[in-house]
Amino acid sequence: MSISRKKLHILVTLGPTWEFIDPIRFITNRATGILGYFIAQEGLRRGHRVTCVAGPSALCPLPGARWMNVVGAEEMRRAVQVIFPKVDALVMSAAVSDYRVKKPFLSKLKRRGRSFPLFLEENPDILDGVSRGKGGRVLVGFALETENLIKSALKKLKEKKLDLIIANLVSGDKDPFGNRKVDVHFLWKDGRQRFYVDISKSQLAKVLLDAVEDLALTRISER
Ligand code: C5P
Repeated sequence: MSISRKKLHILVTLGPTWEFIDPIRFITNRATGILGYFIAQEGLRRGHRVTCVAGPSALCPLPGARWMNVVGAEEMRRAVQVIFPKVDALVMSAAVSDYRVKKPFLSKLKRRGRSFPLFLEENPDILDGVSRGKGGRVLVGFALETENLIKSALKKLKEKKLDLIIANLVSGDKDPFGNRKVDVHFLWKDGRQRFYVDISKSQLAKVLLDAVEDLALTRISER
C-alpha cells in the first residue's frame, strides 16, 4: 500500500450532550450531529476505519462504523479517552456542554412558587484532556461563536493543541444548525487559513477529510 493510500482509524464525536437537572429535564444545545455523521460517512467511503461517539440525537448508528451512544459530557470524555490511543485522528465535532448541574435533583422538581438558583460547574475539556497524550495523532476541533470568531478560534486552536480548527459564526442570518449550507473558516496550526462560503455539510465533510488525510500523511513522512 502506498503511503498516500494509508487507511486511517478516525474517531468522530458528534451531536450535543445532555446535562441532567433532574431525571426528566436537562441542559443541552441545538447541535443535530449531522456534520459529524457526514464526516464519518465520508471516512468510511474512503476506506478508513471509523468510530463514532455520539451524543443524543435523532440519528441512527451509521452502518459500517463502530458506534457508541453517550449522554453527558463526562460519559463522552471517558469514551474518547479509551478509544483515543487506538486512533490516528480525532475529529471533535460534538457540541459538548461546557457546564453541568453541580447536584442534579434525584427526583422530579416540583413547582415551588418562587425562583431558586441552579449551580453549574464546568465540564472537563475533552480535547484538552487527550491533547497531552497526542503523540502523532491528528486533532481537529470546531469553534462555534456568536462574536470574535477568528480570535476565539485561534485561541482554542492553540490552547487545545489542535492541528486544525473549523470556525463557524452563529448570528441573525447565519444559523449553522442542521443540514444546511454554512460559511466556515479552516485555521491550521501552521498558520494556513481557508474560507469556504455557502458550502453544504456533505461537501464540508469532504474537504475536512482531505485535510485530515494531508495532516496524517505529513505525520507519517515526518517519522
Ligand atoms: O465549546 P468550545 O467552543 O470550547 O468547543 C471547541 C472544541 O472543543 C470543539 O471541537 C468541542 O468538541 C471541544 N470541546 C471539548 N470538551 C468540552 C467542550 C468542547 O472537547 N468540554
